[in-house]
Amino acid sequence: MTDRTHTTAVNGATGAPLWLLAELTYRCPLQCAYCSNPLDFAAVKEELSTEEWIDVLTQARAMGAVQMGFSGGEPLVRRDLETLVAEARRLGFYTNLITSGLGLDEARIEALHAAGLDHIQISLQASDPDVAAAVAGSPKAHAKKLAMARSVKAAGYPMVLNVVLHRHNIDRLDEIIALCDELGADAVELANCQMYGWAHLNREGLLPSREQLETAEATTARWRERLAERGRDMRLLFVVPDYYAERPKACMGGWGAIFMTVAPDGAVLPCHSARMLPMSFPNVRDRGLREIWYDSEAFNRYRGDGWMREPCRSCDERHQDVGGCRCQAYLLTGDATATDPVCSLSPDHHRVEAARREAGAAAAPMEALTLRNVHESRVFCRT
Ligand code: SF4
Ligand code: FES
Repeated sequence: MTDRTHTTAVNGATGAPLWLLAELTYRCPLQCAYCSNPLDFAAVKEELSTEEWIDVLTQARAMGAVQMGFSGGEPLVRRDLETLVAEARRLGFYTNLITSGLGLDEARIEALHAAGLDHIQISLQASDPDVAAAVAGSPKAHAKKLAMARSVKAAGYPMVLNVVLHRHNIDRLDEIIALCDELGADAVELANCQMYGWAHLNREGLLPSREQLETAEATTARWRERLAERGRDMRLLFVVPDYYAERPKACMGGWGAIFMTVAPDGAVLPCHSARMLPMSFPNVRDRGLREIWYDSEAFNRYRGDGWMREPCRSCDERHQDVGGCRCQAYLLTGDATATDPVCSLSPDHHRVEAARREAGAAAAPMEALTLRNVHESRVFCRT
């Protein structure tokens, strides 16, 4: 068993997980070039059964988790989604479905509603079908998403849209927000693409230039004013890409602090990206969630601040940003214990600056993006 003196979170003793993200499957009808699933998703074959998922939900709730997200891949691929939602609701979770909208129809919306689903978030790729098709690999998906967004709203859910922004759609932000307005959205997350998984593979083709980003921020501000003048309540949340920040985010609120992801095969992770790190993660098929959360080596490795090196170790800001993101540190330096290079105090910050310079120069055309696909995934497979 791990020495608990090393398991303390930044603010004291390790607390219970509040958030559970259930990645029900890595299967998905789309092929987004910025998919956050692991590059070697094809190596994951044995998804948890319905009974195993119910056991995971029960254990997490008993530990104190209150929020849960169903995601993937595309969670609607699982025919037992309604059963799992009903069980999560019965246990007392607040439930959120994160979906592309593909696989949804009026009957399923009604069934999910009857199961007690609290919230649905649909992703859009772009304002026009051509860009959406080029980035997600499906010419029909865009129209289907728009129809499902309308149906979700008609079923009484708030319409919450998520649009991943990148260099090939960010210049059309004005049209994207206009489309969300026309759809009757209640909230729109304009989430600049973060560079994990397939997005990291495609970084050169996806990272916007600073100029593009500044224009997009100004567009968002203009829209906020216009919406307020019209008395239209559509919240716009603009998420800046990490690569243009000078301080990193406190990723997941800290490693093993409040957030837990269970992957399709039962691997338990402190974040959705961690399984590409050079370490092994426990599995709910072998151990209980409580033991995994409190006592596993994986969850304790970057908890608190004992693992930090300089400059984080003696930095006054270390309890605010917990040294940034371990996955980003690894992807940019090959060392997960490094200070997140997003931080301007990091000795590796020049790597982020180089990526920004690259993005300022002419980037690869949209057609050069590698869409998420099984063939490439097999190439990345470790097994
Ligand atoms: Fe945060 Fe570390 Fe940068 Fe300090 S040096 S601001 S703790 S990432
Ligand atoms: Fe894994 Fe930030 S995404 S620690």
